[in-house]
Amino acid sequence: MNSSKRSGTVISKQSARAPFDVAHYRKDFPILAQKVYGKPLVYLDNAATTQKPQVVIDALEQYYAKENANIHRGIHYLSQQATDAYDDARVTVQKFLSARKPSEIIFVRGATEGINLVSQSYGRTFLKAGDEILITAMEHHSNIVPWQILCEQTGAKLRTSPINDDGELLVNEFEKLLNPKTKFVSIAHISNALGTINPVKRLIQMAHERRIPVLIDGAQSAPHMAVDLQDLDCDFFVFSGHKLFGPTGIGVLYGKSEYLEKMPPYQGGGDMISAVTFEKTLYNKLPFKFEAGTPHIAGVIGLGAAVNYVARIGLDPIFAYEQELLEYATRKLSEVSGLRIIGEAKEKASIISFVLADVHAHDVGTILDQEGIAIRAGHHCAMPLMERFGVPATARASFAFYNTKEEIDRLVDGLHTVLEVFT
Ligand code: ALA
Repeated sequence: MNSSKRSGTVISKQSARAPFDVAHYRKDFPILAQKVYGKPLVYLDNAATTQKPQVVIDALEQYYAKENANIHRGIHYLSQQATDAYDDARVTVQKFLSARKPSEIIFVRGATEGINLVSQSYGRTFLKAGDEILITAMEHHSNIVPWQILCEQTGAKLRTSPINDDGELLVNEFEKLLNPKTKFVSIAHISNALGTINPVKRLIQMAHERRIPVLIDGAQSAPHMAVDLQDLDCDFFVFSGHKLFGPTGIGVLYGKSEYLEKMPPYQGGGDMISAVTFEKTLYNKLPFKFEAGTPHIAGVIGLGAAVNYVARIGLDPIFAYEQELLEYATRKLSEVSGLRIIGEAKEKASIISFVLADVHAHDVGTILDQEGIAIRAGHHCAMPLMERFGVPATARASFAFYNTKEEIDRLVDGLHTVLEVFT
């Protein structure tokens, strides 16, 4: 496969009305055919990381077996092949998110690094003591801690917009918190712990009416729903490759060029310079200014393959099918005695957090594991949110488009086993 064949610049979407052929798509994921403890694997930990289709595994192998070389440096054949594949992946991501230009797509290690880059580069340059940064009560630690670090460095203040008992953002309260001191807003598109889909377009508009830039943490949205950055109009957007059926250690920061242009580099090193003397360094143009050092070339190529793969299926059919799974699972889980769902927002993605009678979430997870069912149990890197709901931890089942209703039935059976053991 040469790089032009692999190039993801052609993204076609299937009709949302076509029947969703889950059995067909499952065959693309070799890991799903596995048994664990002698039982067919039921993988319901997709909010933590997703499985990889064969095309992604092949793209990684192709790069290492046939094209491995450093990019943007060599004049030789392999370097050119690798550079083309890397640059193609950037265009693929640009089109996938409907960003205006490829140069607005910065490859980073993941959503976490993207947020840290913005907080340190934009935040340390443009925020000062007394300024306010507004987040929500449902943020992942990666959208809390970088801002706390920035507040310690600058004297800025972190404000938190509250949520209701269903796990929905109180939009009126959010608006009241926007004030002349607010200099940055950073919000999750979808809560990793509750599944709540935030009305980000409205929130972005509210902030923009006051000329406040907005970052959207798309770690849980980009893999599960269509994201159109021209429509959302956020100033920054981040997501992680490994949650989008791609490799670990790679992710994307999108930034509007008018912001990225005036931000200083996050790290210094190779590729981010145009000229270096011991007196002064001139920085490279976008996006290279923010990609110091040899990047995760294989990761970028694998991410490009993953984006092409999901784009070929179509994010609208994926979202519709996952909503079906969510409805089915919500109904079935609600019938399990002693089970309480944490997070019942009207707009939800396919993530269900729950507590089961008096059983600790880790015990729920451990017994389900013995049944071959993988879920996550814990605080989901959202400790303040757990505190808001008065629970130390929840069990969480999170679905992807390769999951089935039969797997949800297996989860329900597994929960009955948990209850038999503990009551
Ligand atoms: N943020 C990931 C999760 O929610 C790790 O599980």
